[in-house]
Amino acid sequence: MKIREEFLPFSRPSIGEAEINKVVTCLKSGWITTGALSQEFEEKFCALTAAKDAIALNSATAGMHLTLSALNIGAGDEIITPSLTFASTVNMIALRGATPVFIDVDYGTLNMNPELIEEAITPRTKAIIPVHFAGAPADMDKINKLAQKHNLIVIEDAAHAVGTYYKGISAGGFGNIAIFSFHPIKNITTGEGGMITISDPLLTKKIRLLRFHGIERDAWKRYGKGGNPAYDIAEPGYKYNLPDMLAALGLAQFERWPELNHRRAHLAELYNEGLAEISDIDLPQIPAYEHTHAWHLYIIKMLKLDREKFMNKLAEYNIGYGLHFPPTHLLKYVQEKYRAKIGPLRETDRAAGKIISLPLFPDMQDDDVQYVCDAIKEILSHG
Ligand SMILES: Cc1ncc(COP(=O)(O)O)c(C=O)c1O
Repeated sequence: MKIREEFLPFSRPSIGEAEINKVVTCLKSGWITTGALSQEFEEKFCALTAAKDAIALNSATAGMHLTLSALNIGAGDEIITPSLTFASTVNMIALRGATPVFIDVDYGTLNMNPELIEEAITPRTKAIIPVHFAGAPADMDKINKLAQKHNLIVIEDAAHAVGTYYKGISAGGFGNIAIFSFHPIKNITTGEGGMITISDPLLTKKIRLLRFHGIERDAWKRYGKGGNPAYDIAEPGYKYNLPDMLAALGLAQFERWPELNHRRAHLAELYNEGLAEISDIDLPQIPAYEHTHAWHLYIIKMLKLDREKFMNKLAEYNIGYGLHFPPTHLLKYVQEKYRAKIGPLRETDRAAGKIISLPLFPDMQDDDVQYVCDAIKEILSHG
């Protein structure tokens, strides 16, 4: 086959005139940091998820840091999480002085296996952090039931899950805490950004304070006409607010999420068809329970070739790729610090060396998927 001239990236945000106009309007408005647009963006997430509150942030990582801080998670506490997640979760657990307790995943969906949670719970366990992996929801009924039984908080990692539904309920709509990400590869983007959805008023208040230095009143109210710029701080906080300039981009993207996700689902279907005949790869499995998949990622498992070699081959064909994720239990500091606590993670280890994320983004053409499928077939026929 003929190698394409233009590089096909693994991901690229879909930015149209509506996004550009909305950001330009904000830039011209005289107020570009956190204000009315950020608040409007929060309201959109309340409506999407049916959570009581939403808190806009400059990253999902900030959301995890704030959540663990507001819950007073610290030394001696254990947090249940899959190892197969982004390092930021484990970093935040470690930086709070707590201990991650890793749960194995299902090899097919790469979602945390809820059957393994109960045996990992100890008197020190404080929270469970399921990931809606690649946009497929975690098994929330089972997870929530266990959490209620053992009085644990569930923090949904909804970084991949704008538009993910579990049995008719949106990610972020289960009454606990969820954290979305708007990093540029995510289903909607603000450049960088995140959102907590939450339904506990006391915790909401605490997180809002910790989001901005611990200062009670928002800057846009303090600096408005007749506002009082003085402040006091009862507890020191961080600087994790989402500027309006970025919320403007988020608002324009939010309008488009159904269309963007629809396109992702179509492309995923094309991959399913185009790769169906190849026996040397495993295709992504979808959960058996009722759900809507957000198709944030399309992850195959390479069974035949060494992954490094496969990635090099894809590069020769001018195709980008991603790796979601290097398992966190193998990270250097995690091995050094928590090795004694890491139990067997058979399915994670089985998948870890094989997973690779193929290009998937809404502006990709149907032909691009065909090209990737043909390239994989050709690579495998030579390899
Ligand atoms: C599963 C998961 N959790 C958390 C994050 C962190 O998101 P952010 O980059 O917005 O901090 C990411 C982002 O890549 C992710 O994929």
